[in-house]
Amino acid sequence: MSVPYLEVRVKSVTYEAERINSYDLRLRDGGALPPFTAGAHVNVRMRGNSTRSYSLVNSQHERHRYVIAVALDEAGSGGSRHIHGRVRAGDLLQITPPANDFRLVEEAPCSVLIAGGIGITPIWCMVQRLTSLNRPWALHYAARTRGAAAFLDELSRLPAGQIHLHIDAEANGQVIDVAAIVKRAPADAHLYCCGPAGLLAAFEQAASTRAPAQVHVEYFKAKNAPARRHAYTVVLAKARREILVQTGQTLLDALLDAGLDPARSCVEGVCGACEVRVIDGIPDHRDMVLTDAERAANRTMMICCSGSCSERLVLDL
Ligand code: FES
Repeated sequence: MSVPYLEVRVKSVTYEAERINSYDLRLRDGGALPPFTAGAHVNVRMRGNSTRSYSLVNSQHERHRYVIAVALDEAGSGGSRHIHGRVRAGDLLQITPPANDFRLVEEAPCSVLIAGGIGITPIWCMVQRLTSLNRPWALHYAARTRGAAAFLDELSRLPAGQIHLHIDAEANGQVIDVAAIVKRAPADAHLYCCGPAGLLAAFEQAASTRAPAQVHVEYFKAKNAPARRHAYTVVLAKARREILVQTGQTLLDALLDAGLDPARSCVEGVCGACEVRVIDGIPDHRDMVLTDAERAANRTMMICCSGSCSERLVLDL
C-alpha cells in the first residue's frame, strides 16, 4: 500500500537556537491541512522509502501550516544533516498526515511537562493547547545553555511561575533534578517527558510509582543498542532471497547493502514504521514499539534495530 504523502512547500526556515531550525510547511496548492492534536508528528520523506519523524510545534488551531523543528545531529543517521544542509525556503517536501503517539490528556486536573533540548517540540505544542484550554500546567525545560534552548521568546510571553527553566551551564553543569519535580507533582497530575535518553531514564525511574496511565514519555531513540553482535541469515520470503547479516551489521544495513529499500523512519526503534512480519526464527528485539507480550509472541519485529537470536530468520519481505 502506498503512503498517502502530502506535498508541502517550505514557506520559511527560521533559526530557533544553536543547531535547531524550524520549518514552516504549507500545502503546495494552499488550503487547509489535515487537523492534528498536541503531541502529533509527521514523517518527512527522505530518499526512497526512508522518512524521519518530527513533532509539530505550532498550535493545533492552525490549519494552514505545520511547523516542525529539527536539531542537527552530526552523529545521527543523516536525516537532520540532510534537512539542515539541503532544505531551503521554497522547496517541496513530501510528508505523511499527522499521527499522534504522545497524546495530551486535556481533561487532566493538572499537567506537569518536562522537556530536555529538542524534546521541547511536542511539549511546546502541548503548552499552547493547555493554555488555550485554560487548564493548569507547569513546564520544566532543560537545556545545556540559553543559546541552545529553542522557543525561549515564545515561552517568556506565557504567565511567569508556570515555566521553570534549567540551564546546565548556569547550574555548575548540574542536570535537571527530575526526581524532585516528579516528587512535588500532585498525585492526580499527568506527567509528560520528552528529551535525551538520560532524562527519560531518570523520569521513568522517578515516575515508576505513579499510575502508568498518568505517565507519558516520547522517545527519540531506543534504550537498547541495535543488534549486531553476531552473523545470521535472513530469508526474504516474498523476494525469494537469502542475505547474510554479518557481525557488526544491523539487519537494516544488510538489506540496504543488498539493494533493498524497506520502509523505515526513525531507524532508532521507536516509531514502528519498519515493522515486518516474522515467518520463522526468533528475533532479538531491541525496539521501543512492541509490548512485552508482542515480543514474546515473535510475530513481528522492527528491522531497523532488532536482529536474530536464531541462525536463520524468515521475514515477510
Ligand atoms: S524505523 Fe522506526 S522503529 Fe524502525
